[in-house]
Amino acid sequence: MITDQRVQNYLYAMLPEREPVLREMERQAKERGIPIVGPAVGRLFYQYARLINARAVFEMGSAIGYSTLWWARAVGGAGQVHYTDGSRKNADEARSYFDQAGVASQIRIHVGDALELLSERKEQFDILFCDVDKHDYPRVFNMAAARVRKGGLFIIDNALWHGDVAYAAGNPELAGKSEPDKLTKGVVELNRLLYDSMSWFTTIVPLRDGVAVAMRL
Ligand SMILES: C[S@@+](CC[C@H](N)C(=O)[O-])C[C@H]1O[C@@H](n2cnc3c(N)ncnc32)[C@H](O)[C@@H]1O
Repeated sequence: MITDQRVQNYLYAMLPEREPVLREMERQAKERGIPIVGPAVGRLFYQYARLINARAVFEMGSAIGYSTLWWARAVGGAGQVHYTDGSRKNADEARSYFDQAGVASQIRIHVGDALELLSERKEQFDILFCDVDKHDYPRVFNMAAARVRKGGLFIIDNALWHGDVAYAAGNPELAGKSEPDKLTKGVVELNRLLYDSMSWFTTIVPLRDGVAVAMRL
């Protein structure tokens, strides 16, 4: 929990009703413990995508396609979203939701390693969204600048990693672990790389588990 529980409850209680397919995905995620970004962050994605008039989104780590559906709604019928996940089963489930939501034609589904799939792309995207295993975050950073157009966004979920980033930055009382693990180290390194970089202008939004939003300069 990043924000105070009461604040979190307030933010979620205000959210308008979602379309039925998103609601069903939220229900499945809750029942089966699938770590989706959820509706508050989904709205943030939608808002950022609309603000920059995004048409092309590449998503790394899509699971059952919940965040993918938010991107697809934001880019509209003329846009395209690349779904990537290592699991064929996840991809098949996501495809059925995309069919139900009527967005299948806007989404290209790729099964495999998201970093390899990104390295195969030659074009630049309006938005690159990263939600893969956290130890790979610094590697994704090294690939991102070439794949995001100027003025485009590199968005990363779990940028505050349950608050453990604060521990890794030298506040041991905040986490209660003896040594930051490789996942925490990956997130901390990514945040540092982003803030130190001359190629990106970065903020971290402390919504849910933290969302880093970096604009390509
Ligand atoms: C946190 S979940 C994604 C949730 C999704 N972004 C959402 O909010 O709806 C991460 C997913 O990425 C997949 N994954 C992790 N590392 C990956 C990689 N290197 N390549 C492809 N998929 C990966 C996991 O199997 C999992 O399904």
